[in-house]
Amino acid sequence: MRTQVAIIGAGPAGMFLAHLLHRAGVAAVVLERRDRHYVESRVRAGVVEQVAVDLMTELGVDARLKREGLVHHGVNIVSDGAMFRIGFPELTGGRSVTVYGQSEVMKDLFDAAQARDVPIVFDAEAVALHDLDGERPYTTWREHGVERRLDCDYVVGCDGYHGVSRASIPADVLKIYEKVYPFGWLGILTDAPPCDDELIYCNHARGFALASMRSPTRSRYYVQVPADEGIEDWPDARFWDEMQLRLGDAGSRLVRAPSFDKSVAPLRSFVAEPMRWGRLFLAGDAAHIVPPTGAKGMNLAVSDVKFLSEALIARYREGTDAGLDGYSTRALARVWKAERFSWWFTSLTHRFPEMTPIDQRLQTAELDYLRSSRAAQQVFAENYVGLPLQHGEPILDRAVAYA
Ligand code: APR
Ligand code: PHB
Repeated sequence: MRTQVAIIGAGPAGMFLAHLLHRAGVAAVVLERRDRHYVESRVRAGVVEQVAVDLMTELGVDARLKREGLVHHGVNIVSDGAMFRIGFPELTGGRSVTVYGQSEVMKDLFDAAQARDVPIVFDAEAVALHDLDGERPYTTWREHGVERRLDCDYVVGCDGYHGVSRASIPADVLKIYEKVYPFGWLGILTDAPPCDDELIYCNHARGFALASMRSPTRSRYYVQVPADEGIEDWPDARFWDEMQLRLGDAGSRLVRAPSFDKSVAPLRSFVAEPMRWGRLFLAGDAAHIVPPTGAKGMNLAVSDVKFLSEALIARYREGTDAGLDGYSTRALARVWKAERFSWWFTSLTHRFPEMTPIDQRLQTAELDYLRSSRAAQQVFAENYVGLPLQHGEPILDRAVAYA
C-alpha cells in the first residue's frame, strides 16, 4: 500500500488531521491500535474552544455539536466556600466555549470518516515506523495476524503520550520538559442534572474539586485525591460527601445518583521539542500533555493539526517546504502558552502536599485578586476560551471578529 501521509493514532489529533487532508485531496491513511468502540468510549474532558468549534463547522461535522453542545458564557470559581463568576464574552470580545464531550466529538469524526471514505485501519497491532530520516519512510503493522506495510511521504505521530512515534525519535534529538503533580483527579459520570448551569472550579482546604457536565441530565464531577489513592478508596458515598463539602454553598444543589465510569487520572505537564524529526511530525498528546485544569488537551491537538495540515497542503499544492520547516516552532508557541495557563490554573486551585503557610497565603491572595480585578479576569478569560491560532496576533482584535 502507498499513501502520501501515514497518520498514527485515531484520537482527536489523528482524526481531525485525516479530515483536513482528505478535504484538500491529500491522501492519508490512519493506523489505530484499538477498535472504534474503544476510542470513542474513553471518557475525557468536555470543553471545546471556539477554534475547535470553528474547525468542526469548517469540516461539516458540527451538526450534533450545534444541536446538543452547551454554549457556556462563563465559569465559577469557589475559594474558601465563596463563589464568584468570570464571564467570557464581555472580556474577550464576544467569545465563549462549548461543553460537548470528547467522546461525542470522536463519534462525529468517525461517522463522517465512514461517510466520506476516509481510510482508517483499526486493530493495527505492533505499528513500527521505518526510515523516518530518509526520503522514503514506511510503516509496518500486524492486522489479524497478517504483516502489512504502508509506504508514504510523511508520517504524523498522533498516537498519544504512550505511542510509538515519539519513541521512534533518537533520545538525543528531543528535549523533554516535564512536571508530575503530587496528586490525581478522581472523576465520575452520573445520570443526574448538574448542580449549576456552568462549571464550578473549587479550591478547598481539603483539595480541588470540579463540577462539570455533559448534558442537562448528565454530570461530570472530579475531586483532587492523593497520588496513591485509587477508585477502591472512593465508594460513591465518600465521593458525594467530599464533593458536597468542597463545593461550599453550591454543594446543597448536588443531585446524588449512582456513578459510572469512575477513574483516577494523574496530572502532568510535559513537552517534547522539537515536534519534528526528518519526515516524522508529532501532534497532540504524542508531543505534549497538560494537566486537565482548563481542559486544553483536545484543543491543543486541534491547533497542532490545523497548522500541520496547512503545511502539508502547501507542500503538495505548491511544492514548498517552508510550512513544514516552521511547523514545530509555530505549534510550540501556542502549546507553551496553554501549558502555562494549565499549570497556573492547577497551581491556583489545588492543595499541594509541600505547601508552607506562605505558599498558602499567596495562593489565597491570588484567588482574591482574580475575584476582584477585571484585568486578572480578562487574562483568565482569554486563555480559557482559547488563544488565537496566529502567533502574536492581538487577542482582542481577533476576538472582535467573533462578536
Ligand atoms: N499504534 C497505533 N495507534 C496508537 C498507538 C500505536 N503504537 N499508540 C497509541 N495509539 C492510539 C491510541 O489508541 C489513541 O486512540 O493513538 C490514539 C491517541 O489518541 P489520544 O491519546 O486521544 O491523543 P490525541 O489525539 O493527541 O488527543 C489529545 O485528546 O484524548 C485526549 O487526553 C487527550 O486531551 C488529549 C487530547
Ligand atoms: C470535564 O467536563 O471533563 C472537564 C471540564 C473542565 C476541565 C476538565 C474536565 O477543566
